[in-house]
Amino acid sequence: MALFSRKKRSVPITGGPLPAHIAIIMDGNGRWAKRRGLPRSAGHSAGAATFKTIARYCNRIGIKYMTVYAFSTENWKRSQEEVNGLIDLLRGYLLDSKTFQKENIRLKLIGDFEPLDPDLVALIAKAEEDLKDATGLQVNIAFNYGGRDELVHAARRLVRDGVPPEEITEDAISDRLYTAGIPDPDLVIRPGGEYRLSNYLIWQTAYAEFWFTDVLWPDFSERDIDAAIEAYRARDRRFGGAK
Ligand code: IPE
Ligand code: IPE
Ligand code: MG
Repeated sequence: MALFSRKKRSVPITGGPLPAHIAIIMDGNGRWAKRRGLPRSAGHSAGAATFKTIARYCNRIGIKYMTVYAFSTENWKRSQEEVNGLIDLLRGYLLDSKTFQKENIRLKLIGDFEPLDPDLVALIAKAEEDLKDATGLQVNIAFNYGGRDELVHAARRLVRDGVPPEEITEDAISDRLYTAGIPDPDLVIRPGGEYRLSNYLIWQTAYAEFWFTDVLWPDFSERDIDAAIEAYRARDRRFGGAK
């Protein structure tokens, strides 16, 4: 079976293997809305639609993991109205998990759920449970996620688990991150024109490849994923080794 339909692609993808894990910083919703004279919430709704389209597409082309940044530990600085809107969008994804189920997509939430309402936390557990047997793409939604916060949590767990200093290894830390058991991202995509990580997966991206675009997230399309993957496949990943 062809990996990409001719209709959707203008240039054939050649080069190395597909990335197994793509991480995306879904940025630019606010500016997208502003350009149209719309409230920021309209940008977030449009971004949510893009998220679904891109998840489906990644599933179709055989990507194993897609991790999206939906809400950072710093995003609480926004207005109460905007924060509530973003929480409602998460609720919407979770309630809509049956759509993912039909498409054989697995779901996992990563982040600190402590400040979230107990009913939302229960909804997260239910959606994850409903989709746990899916064998297609695993979508990880980073919500109230911060890379530094994640490392603080991992350090606390090491202490709680009574791990002696000489047993604190890279694996011991990785196993205590929210992403435990998930391979590191191969490719990080940031739309929205900013060139920074914004506290996203700072441990896991140590050897990731990066791809940036000025396209705002609500306008991001399958074509952009294709372009990012094509660039990725042409990269030479050395992981510190010599050529
Ligand atoms: C990304 O879009 C969504 C979140 C951060 C939750 P923004 O809301 O950051 O959009 P811009 O960067 O203001 O355009
Ligand atoms: C990163 O975007 C967080 C998410 C996309 C959820 P931000 O818009 O919050 O990042 P900064 O503030 O521009 O670094
Ligand atoms: Mg932003």
